[in-house]
Formats: sequence, C-alpha cells, structure tokens
Amino acid sequence: MTPDLVGGLESPDYASHDRAAHEPYAPVFTGDVKRELDELLTRYPTKMAALLPALWIVQRERRWVSEEGMVEVADLLELTPAYVKGVVTFYTMYHQHPVGKYFIQVCTTSPCGICGADDVVKALLRHTNAGELGLTSPDGRFTVIEVECLGACGFATPVMVNEEFIESVTPEKVPDLLARLA
Ligand code: FES
Repeated sequence: MTPDLVGGLESPDYASHDRAAHEPYAPVFTGDVKRELDELLTRYPTKMAALLPALWIVQRERRWVSEEGMVEVADLLELTPAYVKGVVTFYTMYHQHPVGKYFIQVCTTSPCGICGADDVVKALLRHTNAGELGLTSPDGRFTVIEVECLGACGFATPVMVNEEFIESVTPEKVPDLLARLA
C-alpha cells in the first residue's frame, strides 16, 4: 500500500524545520521492534485492538507518526490507512509532524494562567530557542506547546517534558530545568 492512499494530510509549515520529515522512509517494525509487536499482538483479541500501542511504538521510535508510519501500521494490522489516520488525528498525544527530542507541554488553562503560565511559556520559548509554540528549536532538541489542564492546578505551572511531570515551574526555574536535560 502506498503512503498517498492515506490522503489529505498536508505537511504543516513547521515540518520543514525537521529533516526527518523529508528523509526516505525506513520501516519501523523490523528486528526487535517487529518482535515486540508480535508479542504485543498475543495480548489482544484482534489485531485492530492493538492499534493504539502499535502507534505508540511508532512514535517512540520516530518521535512522530508519519503518513508512511500509518500505512505501515495499517498493513501490519490489516486495517485501512484511512482508519489508522482517523485514530491518529483523534488523539492529540500522537504527533503528526516531527517534534524535538524533548517535547514540552505547558498548562496554560485559566488557573495556571492566572499564576503566570504565559510567562513560563515565554521563558521556555526564549531559552530553548524554539521561538514559537509548535516549532522545533534549530538544534532539534525542543518543541514547546500549550495544553489544557494537566490535573495539577495547585502546583502552577505544571510542565511535562516527554513523560516527566514537573510541578511549580516559574520563569526563573526554566534555565535550570533545561540544563538538566542537556
Ligand atoms: S489548570 Fe493548569 S493544571 Fe489544571
């Protein structure tokens, strides 16, 4: 199945900031990763039921889920590319464009906004050199986005760096936070 059968996914402008969006596609599910998928499939009643974790593997390996990745998963799980695309576009945790090594999510919902979340965002954009929300820093290390409530309203401003949850971030703490990721 060819990637164009997925159809309709326009490359966002910010994709041009990452060479990964333009490199030839190499299958994700080879070697140990294919064996991981095979083992995963033994734990689900149908191949379709394993779609979310299969996509998660793609994102873990590539940091995003490209159209080609959707087609690969569709082939392996005997689904249509359109079905897989529908799932990927429904869940915001799947990245549809390349992101930095460190994907930083900042809660800017009202309670955190009142406590200065916008200033944390500005500090992150400045110190990562990402410049704008959703863009990846020129060194490919950081992407910063705003998100809705992270469930830590009493610990403004909460920030997630990949899977790590960090509470009470202030603009002053941002340089140390980033240095720790170096
Ligand atoms: S409003 Fe920010 S964590 Fe709930």
